[in-house]
Amino acid sequence: MGNLHDCLAGTAAGAGAYAARDREAPAPGVTAARFRHAIGQFATGVTVVTSVGAGGEPVGTTANAVTSLSLDPPLVLVCFDRESQTLEAVRAHGAFAVNVLAARQRHLSVNFARRGLAAAWHGVVHRPGRTGSPRLEGVLAALECTVAENFPGGDHEIVVGRVAAVETSGQVAPPLLYWRGSYGTLEA
Ligand SMILES: Cc1cc2nc3c(=O)[nH]c(=O)nc-3n(C[C@H](O)[C@H](O)[C@H](O)COP(=O)(O)O)c2cc1C
Repeated sequence: MGNLHDCLAGTAAGAGAYAARDREAPAPGVTAARFRHAIGQFATGVTVVTSVGAGGEPVGTTANAVTSLSLDPPLVLVCFDRESQTLEAVRAHGAFAVNVLAARQRHLSVNFARRGLAAAWHGVVHRPGRTGSPRLEGVLAALECTVAENFPGGDHEIVVGRVAAVETSGQVAPPLLYWRGSYGTLEA
């Protein structure tokens, strides 16, 4: 995974160079609002990334910064806010599951966008997968991963997961989408 690191650093100098670039002042005109507005034009699916907390409890967060990274070996990456409680659990547990939401599961996205609430799990049907990470009932797909590598990414952390198990629902249901700060579906 050295290549990914070099790519993030922009040079072959590695993490030190990346950290130095990270501290640079933002380019003139690239305000947080303008950056958000621009990147918000990029439509994504929506997932709930789950793991297991220190006390064995289920944890999860809504995440759309999720990308397929490599086919051989099978890798995905998830970008977590450095303050995320789910990230803390993922680091400690060493594994996570990516649950891909269907359009009808928008309520789950809203639910898991709340920070670290045990109450978020009340009424949510789930079962532990192979790595122990919760798999949510009725999702379009679930990818179970073990943590392969972590990289710094500004105010986020990039977690690369090696895919240990996959399951798809087999149902033809539209995915939940996120675009320009709002939820959508393929029909909308
Ligand atoms: C549609 C959507 C996508 C999100 N994507 C991410 C993401 O990719 N990474 C992230 O860290 N937070 C993301 N969030 C915000 C987290 O879900 C939110 O901060 C949550 O409270 C974090 O909970 P935790 O601290 O228990 O992990 C997203 C929220 C929404 C509504």
